[in-house]
Formats: sequence, C-alpha cells, structure tokens
Amino acid sequence: MAKLFFALPLTTLAPHIVAWRTHRPWPGEWVSEQNLHLTLAFLGHGDEATCAALIARVNQQHCPPFSVQLNEVGWFNRAQAAWIGPSQWPNSLQVLAKALRQHGEKCGLGNGERHYRPHVTLSRKAATPPTIAPAPNFTLHCQQFGLYQTIVNELGVHYQAIASWPLRPRRPIKDESQ
Ligand code: 2AM
Repeated sequence: MAKLFFALPLTTLAPHIVAWRTHRPWPGEWVSEQNLHLTLAFLGHGDEATCAALIARVNQQHCPPFSVQLNEVGWFNRAQAAWIGPSQWPNSLQVLAKALRQHGEKCGLGNGERHYRPHVTLSRKAATPPTIAPAPNFTLHCQQFGLYQTIVNELGVHYQAIASWPLRPRRPIKDESQ
C-alpha cells in the first residue's frame, strides 16, 4: 500500500524558497528542498488497483495553467507545520483541488477533510509560528501536477512521483460546420 497525495511540484522555485528561508529565523525542522511541494489533495493509503483506477479518472481531468502568489507565512498549530502560502488564490486552483479530492473519494481514498488551504510546508515540529517581515513574495507558475507517494526509508522521507499531468484547458469543441 502506498501513501498517496496530489501536489503541485515547486521545481525551479524550490531553491529560491530555500535560500530565502536560510536567512530567516524559521522555526522547526526544515523540509528539504527536494521535498517542497504544494499539496492539492491528501489521499492516504491505496493499493495498486486503486492507484490505477485513480489515474484513469484523473486522465479525464482538465485545468488551465495558473499562477499562485506565495506572499504570506502561516502555522498549523495541531500539525506543528510552518508554511508559506497565498493570501488569495485563483479559482482554478480551488476547483482542481476539489476535483482531485473527489476523484480520490470515488476510489475510496481521502480523509474526509473538505476545507482546502493551499500552502507549502517549510518546516515540521515547529513549536511556534514563523514571525517574518517583510512577507515572502514568490510566484509559482503551475504547468503540471502529480500523484505522489511518500517513501520512508533509512535516508528519511521523500516523495516519489507516480504520475503527472499537464495543466491544460479543455480542448475547444470542434465546429463541424466549417
Ligand atoms: P503538508 O502539505 O501540510 O505538509 C504528504 O505527506 C503530504 O500530504 C504533505 O504535504 C502533508 O501536508 C499532507 N498530509 C500528510 N498527512 C496528512 C493528513 N493526515 N491530512 C491532510 N494532509 C496530510
């Protein structure tokens, strides 16, 4: 059984965020550069057949490319996670996250959570919130999203892509009259 989630990869933005964090009193245990991502939907444990069914569903999903401004810091008290995220985000992101959660639920996955708050966790075991001024100002240009599994081994935690999809608008319906 794999522990699964959908996320937007940070790729070229990740080193810039890490460089920004390095010069700040950021609390907790820092998430490594290669593990930074923006979660779209948490799925939990699924077997191979469930994974295949999920991928088949998501192959039908369309979403146009969008950009997200990561311009504030935050902290989840219960999860002890300190993060950066958008103060506002495009509807396309909200719609995609909901659609992916629903695809997961149709496959018997997910944790029942309905509320979605986009964020990029920069540290865990953070006992205090980050107090940062000035605020961050990164722009994440999203071109694709992926299905990932969490791998835990003697080297620690890392996230492995199982499948990825380009963000692309639904193709215009062909006008047969021309
Ligand atoms: P995070 O984005 O706040 O760090 C892989 O573990 C991803 O799934 C992480 O990014 C993590 O959230 C999210 N995640 C892990 N366990 C979760 C849970 N029980 N509920 C919601 N999201 C979870």
